[in-house]
Amino acid sequence: MKILFIFLCLLLLWSCNGKPYNSQHEIQKTIPLDKDVHSYANFKQINTQHLHLELEVDFKSKTIYGIARHKMNNRGAQSAIFDMKGLLIQKVTLGPKNNEAETDFTIGPMDKDSLLGQALMVKVDSTTQLVNIYYQTTTASDALDWLDTNLTSSKTKPFLYTQGQAILTRTWIPIQDAPSNRFTYSAEVKVPSDLLALMSANNPIRKNSNGLYHFEMKRAIPSYLIALAVGDIGFKDLGQNCGIYAEKELLDTCVKEFEDLPQMMRVAEQLYGPYQWGRYDVLVLPYSFPFGGMENPMLTFANPTLITGDKSLVSVLAHELAHSWSGNLVTNETWSDLWLNEGTTVYFEQRIMEALRGKEIADILAQVEFRELEQTIAELKNDGTYEQSKLHLDLVNKDPDIAMSDIAYVKGAFFFRTLEQNYGRVALDGFLKKYFNHFAFRTISAEGFIDYLKTHLIEPSKNKFNFQEWIYNSGLPNNCAKINASRITEIEKKATDFNSGKDPFGAKVKYKWIKKNGKSKRIKMLIDVKYNDYIIQEWQLFIRALSTQTPIARLKNLDEQFNFSSSGNSEILCDWFVLAAQSEYAFEIQPKITAFLTKIGRRKYVLPIYEALSKSPKGLELARQIFNITKKNYHSVTRNSVSKLLYK
Ligand code: BES
Ligand code: ZN
Repeated sequence: MKILFIFLCLLLLWSCNGKPYNSQHEIQKTIPLDKDVHSYANFKQINTQHLHLELEVDFKSKTIYGIARHKMNNRGAQSAIFDMKGLLIQKVTLGPKNNEAETDFTIGPMDKDSLLGQALMVKVDSTTQLVNIYYQTTTASDALDWLDTNLTSSKTKPFLYTQGQAILTRTWIPIQDAPSNRFTYSAEVKVPSDLLALMSANNPIRKNSNGLYHFEMKRAIPSYLIALAVGDIGFKDLGQNCGIYAEKELLDTCVKEFEDLPQMMRVAEQLYGPYQWGRYDVLVLPYSFPFGGMENPMLTFANPTLITGDKSLVSVLAHELAHSWSGNLVTNETWSDLWLNEGTTVYFEQRIMEALRGKEIADILAQVEFRELEQTIAELKNDGTYEQSKLHLDLVNKDPDIAMSDIAYVKGAFFFRTLEQNYGRVALDGFLKKYFNHFAFRTISAEGFIDYLKTHLIEPSKNKFNFQEWIYNSGLPNNCAKINASRITEIEKKATDFNSGKDPFGAKVKYKWIKKNGKSKRIKMLIDVKYNDYIIQEWQLFIRALSTQTPIARLKNLDEQFNFSSSGNSEILCDWFVLAAQSEYAFEIQPKITAFLTKIGRRKYVLPIYEALSKSPKGLELARQIFNITKKNYHSVTRNSVSKLLYK
């Protein structure tokens, strides 16, 4: 009996190992890709397993002085190659702390587009495991945004934050900077004693008197998820392992706006399995932050423009939370498959929003994105760059930044919506849950994903699926899922009416029966359309459907009626300013546009406005004038994009 049991166990073990994915990805778990076109690192021979950082953050010189101690897995390498850009290297040593010996290193040339930076080649021998790099950052450390006091809410304390994705971590840490390698990290960080330091790791909840902080990230993550923020930051707990960090002045408003976070967490866990990172906190950054959100593990970085007072933009938080599964747990192996991070996440985000706000609202949000996708595909076709509308991209000699488009996000999400339509929600959810669990703390390529999809979703069913076309072809396949919602038709009809010269918001006459002295009586009422009759995203659909030929006088009327150019919501401001910039109306509301571009650094808002302005000679001049003043307020991500646009 006992022997039979052992035999059965062995059989079970053997059959598990026999699965094609398991064996293949077990190897991948420990040995990252041989070559990533965006990294110089030789991680096939030697790769970081644990990184320990010793950092001193000096606001006076806007410099981080650091030691990066790499504990490496060495398979006989004679040199260890790291990525670096905009760093000064003082020395490199081998061996344990306080028992280190200096070693030779060489720094390779900068690549011709200054995209990848330089290779740092360190001499090691085949037994070396500990490599310590002594370095400091410079003004060319593009990940870093050093904010003077005037750009913070406090106006009295400075602020620093980092943005690593996609290939900027190498500008503040000498590192093997490719997503296919995962490692744990720890850090000792020294900051001015009146400021708090936070990382994508376990975090303190209040300042201490010596300005010394210790961090641990005990789960293996890719390099782009290492993050640091330093400022006069406070904390409030939301319960259930969720909390909010923000500058003190903003903290209470942020807590109110994001109070649904624990509920989102419950929904997410119900959908795709337990949250694997311990705590989930959100840090609301100053206005220069170039993204809506960034999914740094345990500590999402969020843009303060999400604080609208009406929770209308919390879907961005749903998105960043979703990345705790799609992206952070299961990570794209290279930036060519960013859609595996972002498309999955947008689909997951839409599902969280549906659970929170209902299908009607979630569909309106999704439709706004779908319209953006249609426009992006049309533009790529027009510009002769239609091949960039593929989910899987060829990024040789290209900035991985170009992968961050509606293609990866929205085409990616509609790929999953279409799978849902084909196989049913229950089957797709089961598949995704298994997928996140199976590939947890690993990386995945398009081919690896397709293998898994075939075996676990497509082949068990009779339905075929055109996944090759979806992933490797340009444009949108014909079977793409559609959204039908009467509210969308209604608001888009309002825009069509407006474009044809009508006034769709004019007061309407309605009749109502009331009882007076026991008698029924019909009374006449005038019903005005109010701003709050529609949600923000409906207004976005409306504004975006307006004709660019609309006479200024009519724009002005509309603006007076609904106050678009004084809206408290940056989505509305952005769309309205883009429309205005396509006509002379921009010059009438120029101070408002300038104020917006001065305060806000989120690239998604800033870039389209500059772009719309730059279409006319007079507008381009204005855009350059504004940018000259505002560029010092932007993070390099936004500054470089705008600069490329205005001076191409
Ligand atoms: N991870 C991205 C931001 C990113 C992607 C930075 C690629 C650099 C390279 C983040 O999760 C994100 O998608 N942010 C969006 C949120 C939106 C889609 C809800 C943003 O900032 O707009
Ligand atoms: Zn994302």
